[in-house]
Amino acid sequence: MSDANPGTHRERADGSDSPAQVTGAEWWRHAVIYQIYPRSFADGNGDGIGDLRGIIDHLDYIDSLGVDGIWLGPVMSSPQADHGYDVADYRDIDPIFGTLADMDDLIAACHQRGLKITLDFVPNHTSEAHPWFQAALAAGPGSPERDRYLFRPGRGEHGELPPNNWRSVFGGPSWTRVIESDGTPGEWYYHLFAPEQPDLNWRNPDVLPEFSDVLRFWLRRGIDGFRIDVSDAPMKDPGFPDTADEQPLIPKDEASGVHDIYRAFRTVFDSFDGDRMAVVETGAPAEIVALFLRPDEMNLAFNFSFTRSPWDADAIRDAITSALAANDAVGAPTTWVTDNHDMPRSVSRYGTSLRLVGEYVPALDQQAEVDVALGIRRHRAMALLMCALPGTVYLYNGQELGLPNVDDLPEAVLQDPVWERSGHTERGRDGCRVPMPWSGDEPPYGFSTNRQTWLPMPQGWGHYTVENEDADAESMLMLYRRALSLRAIHPGLGRGAIRWLEAADAVLALEVASELEPVVVVVNTGGTPAPLPAEIPVGITILSSDPTVPTGSNVVEIPADATVWLRRP
Ligand code: NOJ
Repeated sequence: MSDANPGTHRERADGSDSPAQVTGAEWWRHAVIYQIYPRSFADGNGDGIGDLRGIIDHLDYIDSLGVDGIWLGPVMSSPQADHGYDVADYRDIDPIFGTLADMDDLIAACHQRGLKITLDFVPNHTSEAHPWFQAALAAGPGSPERDRYLFRPGRGEHGELPPNNWRSVFGGPSWTRVIESDGTPGEWYYHLFAPEQPDLNWRNPDVLPEFSDVLRFWLRRGIDGFRIDVSDAPMKDPGFPDTADEQPLIPKDEASGVHDIYRAFRTVFDSFDGDRMAVVETGAPAEIVALFLRPDEMNLAFNFSFTRSPWDADAIRDAITSALAANDAVGAPTTWVTDNHDMPRSVSRYGTSLRLVGEYVPALDQQAEVDVALGIRRHRAMALLMCALPGTVYLYNGQELGLPNVDDLPEAVLQDPVWERSGHTERGRDGCRVPMPWSGDEPPYGFSTNRQTWLPMPQGWGHYTVENEDADAESMLMLYRRALSLRAIHPGLGRGAIRWLEAADAVLALEVASELEPVVVVVNTGGTPAPLPAEIPVGITILSSDPTVPTGSNVVEIPADATVWLRRP
């Protein structure tokens, strides 16, 4: 176990003495973490919704991918208004996912396999069902209970207008008026997201101790770290002024106090043994995000630059160089992300000209034709690029199977609050949350024993099942397994400094440094084969995203929409 603060007392987690647990210092600097969207991974109890038992039953599969750990989407008690991003009890598991005992089993089962387990942590807002919010409603204006949230009187003669003009990121106003205990309309409360997700007042002295204690609760149970939801948002401009663009004013600078929150969380993590970590989620520009990664704050931040870049060599190169520069400046590793539960799956994004609509929750332009086969080729190419780059890779469940987005879910089954809040103008994120296909040729493809899955699964997904891809040497699943197993043993892949090589238009070429053997990574984003960089006109294939280029073969050109890992002859 690393011990950054010798001499200080450090708590041990229940599961931390398991001999198989990975304990390398700062393991998160070059890890591969598999994101599980709990309701969509595997259903263990036949109710059509994924759960903790389902995950435990499929841990061998996760282990077989060659990842270092998992990030589990929110599983704490929640009315599920935003599928768990509305927490009513931060110290319990929601019954749809299981029990605390199931979670303890999952932690132990992960650690037995040497897998890290990280949890989603949602400090910006609670559920409206949280006891604090219920107490705030009951206690009335001016009370200490109300001060834990952001209640304000309305504007207008009778307070009938919201306190300012800020819009919710899910659409509609970001204020909701409450009915006071005497039955009359009263104050308004602020919610960055849905009305069921009231924002906490992080200037209230009760909030930080409570959330620090919640972290301790999970760290004691053996949790290795957290993904912190909307990390940059806890501090709103206290004047709540109107803004020209109706966007909220959420300062992220030192003066805002937001960084003090993360320094306090850091001291909590450091009071435990092991390298407990956190990855921050923020959509802010890279230089702002890097502030959260200073040595006394958090460890990683999602780098969403790939999710916003089109399939274009220059755009991808810029995405890489700007992210590395911003993080290098604070000594933090960079993360590489193409997919998660908030955006259309990249197979579909890469299978069309990127036309995203919707700001916070982008969706593919419904008019756009998606060429899934092309999207899969490009995703394979992207997978090899990501796995070579220095830093930590996040994979979203189903990505390793090459699942496309499901863009034709019937309107009647849509569940994302975005659908209602946008007045049925934005379909929201359900299309990337359809359950995982495990086996067979018909829905529910081994995901559940129940044909009624929480979102319907499409016909024709038989070739995407784990069972099918397991048996196909050229599947996406096998490509990820090969890439991750090479990454795990090669000292340069995922760790080495990179050097850009001169290359033809539409080609991205870089060398990953390694004392043993540098790896040359060449990505061709063009639609026709392209020559290797002039500096290395011939290479020997280590791994290719295009199955027509066998490992060990000499290559002089890269096929269209492909990436090849090469060594010099
Ligand atoms: C970001 C999460 O990824 C998203 O799914 C959620 O809706 C919002 N934060 C609100 O918690």
